[in-house]
Amino acid sequence: MKKTPPIVSLMSGLLTAASLSFIPSASAADAQNIVQQKCLACHVEEGKTSWSRISHQRKTPEGWLMSIARMQIMHGLKISDDERHTLVKYLADRQGLAPSETEGARYALERRLNTSESFESQSFTETCARCHSGARVLLQRRPASEWEHLVHFHLGQWPTTEYQAMARDRDWLDLALNEMVPELAAMLPLQSKSWDQWQKSVKPVVAGSWTFAGKMPGKGEMHGVMQVVEDNKDQFSITLTGQYADGSAFKGTGEAILYTGYEWRANLTVDGISMRQVFSTAKTGEMQGRMFEREHDERGFDFSALKQGSTQSSVIAIQPEYIKVGDTVELSIVGTGLQGDVVLAEGLTLLKDVTSDQNKRVLQVKASNSIATGPKTIRIGKATADITVYDHVASLKVVPAFQVARVGGNDSSTPKIEAAFEAEAWAAGTDGLAGTEDDVRIGFMPATWSVEPFDATSAADNDVHFSGRMNAASGVFTPALAGPNPERRMSTNNAGNLKVIAQVNDEGKSVTADGQLIVTIQRWNNPPIP
Ligand code: HEC
Ligand code: HEC
Repeated sequence: MKKTPPIVSLMSGLLTAASLSFIPSASAADAQNIVQQKCLACHVEEGKTSWSRISHQRKTPEGWLMSIARMQIMHGLKISDDERHTLVKYLADRQGLAPSETEGARYALERRLNTSESFESQSFTETCARCHSGARVLLQRRPASEWEHLVHFHLGQWPTTEYQAMARDRDWLDLALNEMVPELAAMLPLQSKSWDQWQKSVKPVVAGSWTFAGKMPGKGEMHGVMQVVEDNKDQFSITLTGQYADGSAFKGTGEAILYTGYEWRANLTVDGISMRQVFSTAKTGEMQGRMFEREHDERGFDFSALKQGSTQSSVIAIQPEYIKVGDTVELSIVGTGLQGDVVLAEGLTLLKDVTSDQNKRVLQVKASNSIATGPKTIRIGKATADITVYDHVASLKVVPAFQVARVGGNDSSTPKIEAAFEAEAWAAGTDGLAGTEDDVRIGFMPATWSVEPFDATSAADNDVHFSGRMNAASGVFTPALAGPNPERRMSTNNAGNLKVIAQVNDEGKSVTADGQLIVTIQRWNNPPIP
């Protein structure tokens, strides 16, 4: 008998297939043929290009991928990877979301799996955002009838839904059908002005050269240039040429697909490591999103880029983003149209104009001993940007304040999921007091990292010893191996509850802050949208 693959591996396999198979552009007619041949055994043709269920929903490329994958896993749909890819592209283009319709929920597409969600609607939170993310729902648009089908599908497919927490204490089906369906249909309707307008609008051109900047937790700030060439309609080759602040390279090449006119999905190999990009190119001349390792999506960073050669002059990043009173630093200012004279705020002196390039200026700048603290403007030609001048570090924040790492490895199917922390330094505001409202953010600073038991239970269980190791220099925590550990009480696994401590030395004064890290078990179910 043929064994059905478990949902997890098929889903992650599908994700790989969907983003990897860069087939030559298929036409809309090809996609329509695939629907004819593959879907109409179960779905009904309502018109020439209208099919039951399929034509009455809008969602992201990942949303379409998940729906079709579900047809394969649950209903036995047979479809090749290339055919599925063609369909996802066709459906995401024809029935996608407008950029504004994804706002506030992009974290799920960007694989920010440590996000804690919170929604105004309590009924939504309890009814629809407890098994999976609420973002999965917010990234879909349907009429009431389709939301209703979805509720029925949930209960039909997983009858235990009614017996689970936050369902067995109430009439789940009645609430879902009579309260949630109207709420969802009003909040997330199939027809919308923003979608009509986006479909009609002229889409930004993405081919060209882009100045990018980012900061990889544990590794530091980087910037560079991303070259984008359109090989076929909506298919691109990419070349990344960048460097970290310490001069080490950040270089790679890859391929991208543009869905729905702005949903940029790329696969790259950067310094030998497979990485992905999930960006929006909806705003002309801008790219924004997250870039992360394919096998370790927790290792990633916010990416932003500006299109070169536009008439605009703007700065995307000043690295480093702060300067201490009396210090001299070499600043990399990256952006576009950065030609022209450098004009610095009072108290800042330009010692050397190291390189001048339209997209990057490197300046040696000194802050005088008497300079006032706070944001100071640097003007280059028509572009301006602020740098923060500080006197001393008054307080620190661990960012993020709460994270989850996961045990893994040990011949199991999932790798360890790390957690990377950063130390955000703050200066006292005009009141001279730390921890008050007028505090000024300085920026992320190198810190010394350690962990301690979070509470008495964690101390008694010796979580610090068993749950993993914190890298003192980088702030990256690597959890321990998965599986039972005979050395632990009752041979339990290496889960733990830790206090994460950052310490920064500022002129002999030690400033510390703490956050919390939960080390827990593997994420067994890991679909494209959590
Ligand atoms: C073997 C039967 C079968 C085939 C083939 C099939 N489907 Fe389905 N499809 C279903 C059933 C049953 C449902 C309703 C239950 C559900 O949502 O799983 C459904 C529902 C859907 C939905 C609505 C899901 C939702 O979230 O409400 C979409 C979209 C969809 N199918 C797309 C497709 C596409 C595209 C194809 C062809 C590539 C396809 N299906 C092929 C049986 C099938
Ligand atoms: C008991 C757990 C549970 C609850 C409660 C729940 N869901 Fe789901 N939902 C699931 C599972 C499981 C899937 C299928 C996951 C997959 O295919 O990977 C799913 C899938 C979905 C999808 C994707 C379907 C598609 O093919 O496009 C949407 C949208 C969705 N749920 C919305 C909702 C809404 C709206 C509610 C509240 C009315 C809700 N869910 C409540 C478990 C739940």
